Amino acid sequence: MRRVSFFRQCGGVPENCRMEGSTMLQQIIEIVRACGEIVLNADRTQAETEIKDGQSNNLVTTYDRAVQQRLRTQLLQLAPQAHFVGEEEDVHESIARGDAFIVDPIDGTTNFIKDYQCSVISVAMTRDGVQQLAVIYNPYLDEMYWAQRGSGAFCNGKRIHVSDRPLAQGLTIFGSAAYYDELTDESFRLLRMCFDRSMDIRRSGSAAFDLCTIASGRAELYFELRLQPWDYAAGSLIVQEAGGQISRIGGGALDLTKACSVVAAGSRVDTRFLCSKP
Ligand code: IPD
Ligand code: CA
Repeated sequence: MRRVSFFRQCGGVPENCRMEGSTMLQQIIEIVRACGEIVLNADRTQAETEIKDGQSNNLVTTYDRAVQQRLRTQLLQLAPQAHFVGEEEDVHESIARGDAFIVDPIDGTTNFIKDYQCSVISVAMTRDGVQQLAVIYNPYLDEMYWAQRGSGAFCNGKRIHVSDRPLAQGLTIFGSAAYYDELTDESFRLLRMCFDRSMDIRRSGSAAFDLCTIASGRAELYFELRLQPWDYAAGSLIVQEAGGQISRIGGGALDLTKACSVVAAGSRVDTRFLCSKP
């Protein structure tokens, strides 16, 4: 039998966090949790897998599509006026005005296919192009992360904070930008610099989960040279609300309308070395 999280026992959003938007947040959490059950109970032997964008390592399964369809239906019932942007339809609707959901139904699709047991469901709600709510669920760990702009970041109902350790006492986690061959050399050059400056390196295979790992202080530095908005829309708000640094490599705000590099870090990490030239 599956564990029931502390967060669930408490009935969702803690009492002291109930404020405008929290009903919506709670509903999104329940929708995302149910999608986690689909991922957890999936019969992967029955999952059809297809190559995306002509890249043999960029895959989509029938489960990615099914979870996205469910999210689309249920999230738009909560907010029928909202735009919906999801990885598996590759729809880039305008999010600059009004409300929008930005969704990655299974972040860590390769992990899912391989049964590596590290994939998450990621949902951000934006208003006029700015994230207001973020929910990321790791069903394998039964970890529900969420944030509401201005109200902090939480995991299973407990407030989370980024690490305040320097990188020399910390871990670097990274994404290899595996779908972009032209970024491989630079990714591993930067990784080598991080390796030299931190205790060790890790690679989870889910960018959204990596951002939660930074937000919860389990690692000090994360970078990836190219991510899509659905990879970081929710996680970037969670990092920010946990007191962390989040930007493109070299500075500059993340852009929710197109792909960009991402660096996230704890409060005491100086990320400027990532801009140094070879
Ligand atoms: C990928 C994962 C991976 C990251 C890639 C993403 P997907 O998302 O987040 O960790 O390195 O850049 O595209 O394809 O599994 O949804
Ligand atoms: Ca993704």
